[in-house]
Amino acid sequence: MSGTLASTRALWYLTRGSGAVTLVLLTSTVVLGITNSARWASPRWPRFVTERLHRNLSLLVLVFLALHVVTTVVDGYVPIRWLDAVVPFRSAYRPLWLGLGAVALDLLLAVLVTSLLRVRLGHGAWRAVHWLAYACWPVALVHGLGTGSDAGHAWMLAAAAAAAVAVLAAVWWRLGAPNGSVAAVAPLSEEVARHGRGR
Ligand code: HEM
Repeated sequence: MSGTLASTRALWYLTRGSGAVTLVLLTSTVVLGITNSARWASPRWPRFVTERLHRNLSLLVLVFLALHVVTTVVDGYVPIRWLDAVVPFRSAYRPLWLGLGAVALDLLLAVLVTSLLRVRLGHGAWRAVHWLAYACWPVALVHGLGTGSDAGHAWMLAAAAAAAVAVLAAVWWRLGAPNGSVAAVAPLSEEVARHGRGR
């Protein structure tokens, strides 16, 4: 096997692996975000743990997504340009499936930018974009199943099904979360103070 072929193959494996890891991390981030929005907490699991996990995992999503996009474009085996990663449905290669990936990436970028500008934007605008961004999860899932080489493998289908069950269960739980239990949880600031840690 020539060196070029070997490195192209390595990049392809990296694209697939980083795509799968990004989806798992994104799923965890969404589930934690939903949990956090209900202000759920317990004596063993204070709310700041959920919030920090949600924040740190979302940063890891961006790291693995960057790897996913870079390996895709640098690979060069199929014609995918840098622009195709952010401008949806214009790619010469599988425009629909790659376009969905670009939509998911754009939504995540919108969350990143509005989170960085949160103080200037105000809570309402930030929150609106944040909720909209949850749409990136089903879009990314369909992208992965639509274009992934592993989409036909049992392990990928099982991972996608597990991710769907996790998010649907979190949404179902959130919709049914009684107001009393949500309100009964102390505000985040009080909890942080009780555990002696700054935000
Ligand atoms: C949040 C955004 C994204 C997520 C969660 C994601 C996730 C995934 C997943 C799970 C797969 C299937 C991997 C496999 O079958 O092993 C995949 C495939 C792929 N993704 Fe993404 N993706 C995202 C965005 C993008 C973007 C913006 C691009 C464009 C550069 C892209 C390019 C690709 C390509 C080319 C494949 C097919 C790789 C193969 O040959 O199997 N993805 N993605």
